[in-house]
Amino acid sequence: MSMSQLMALLGSWGDGVCNMLSSKYSKLLLAGLVCPLLLLLLLIPLSRMSMLPLSTSGWRRCACELCESKGMGVEVHAEVRGVPSPSDVEWVHRQVQPLKRLVAGGGGAWVAPRKGINPRTRQQQLVDLRRFHGISHYENGSRSGVECPGELLVEHHHSYYGEPWAGGRDVFEFLATAMSLQPRHRVLEIGCGTLRVGLHFIRFLHASNFFCLERDALSLAAALLYELPANGLLNKRPLLLLGDDLQDASELLHGPPFDLVYASAVFLHMPDATVWKTVSVLAKRLADPHGRLFVSHNIKFCTRLSWTECESRLRKSGLQYVGKQTHDSLLFNHFEVWYEFKRHMDTNLEA
Ligand SMILES: C[S@@+](CC[C@H](N)C(=O)[O-])C[C@H]1O[C@@H](n2cnc3c(N)ncnc32)[C@H](O)[C@@H]1O
Repeated sequence: MSMSQLMALLGSWGDGVCNMLSSKYSKLLLAGLVCPLLLLLLLIPLSRMSMLPLSTSGWRRCACELCESKGMGVEVHAEVRGVPSPSDVEWVHRQVQPLKRLVAGGGGAWVAPRKGINPRTRQQQLVDLRRFHGISHYENGSRSGVECPGELLVEHHHSYYGEPWAGGRDVFEFLATAMSLQPRHRVLEIGCGTLRVGLHFIRFLHASNFFCLERDALSLAAALLYELPANGLLNKRPLLLLGDDLQDASELLHGPPFDLVYASAVFLHMPDATVWKTVSVLAKRLADPHGRLFVSHNIKFCTRLSWTECESRLRKSGLQYVGKQTHDSLLFNHFEVWYEFKRHMDTNLEA
């Protein structure tokens, strides 16, 4: 029996019960109250299966995924797909339990050679890549579309920032959740480096909705030659610009405003004067009222001044401080602090 037939049957059964009640107690108005309730109770379990807009979160997620895939741009404020829930974390702990027992018994277990498993350091891999001009076991002369330097193939660039590469995912999850990020949003990262964080945004967002200004050419080369192709994201066409002054990046100064701008571990490395120059340009490029600028680690460019002066300079730059949040890492012992800003309410300053 099809879903629509089943619903029609239950619906007509519900109508029958209602008619019975109506005739017997018509003067009591009871049926008028009971029947809609009865029908509702019958339809809720069905709606979960058929995605009718009657149930709660289950429906919303399915319906919105459907709409997103059709490009209908439905708002999902409560959840960002792919961000682990407490039950996901519980699940992975359960899965790994038997493995933990098997590898316990020596700190070297992870890197010990086993049959078919031949752990090597990046350096050793790089030596082999150079010696054998690649890693093909079968034929010489294979031709790749994007010739990637050995240093990138052994992922040296995953260690550029001192922090674990996996921390990029933490940053994405924090910001995406804080913003109720939508694939249609436009996101700008100042100093995206090798895309440790940006990669996750690029994957999530619609094509051409991720932008970056990065001053280090080698980092951008790693992003373009290794990270995008290796993650199957070339089709997302992010705009990654080489430069260190936002005012020179005309592609970022025009067009629709950004829903999110973030600087992950960047402003603390910049001279204060450069940060002030950057934020006053950014303020004009934030969508109003929901657009946000998030800055990680600290905002010493501002707090080095007195708080009154700091607020006044922010205001002159067209920004308003919203607050501070802390984000806990999923994979390792690490807390990251984030400072949130929006456009200042005083619209006179925004011109
Ligand atoms: C510590 S790394 C962080 C990279 C990336 N945001 C992340 O979290 O993985 C800092 C990055 O900021 C870039 N950077 C520093 N000053 C910059 C500037 N004025 N304009 C653009 N990028 C800058 C550096 O080249 C470097 O790639």
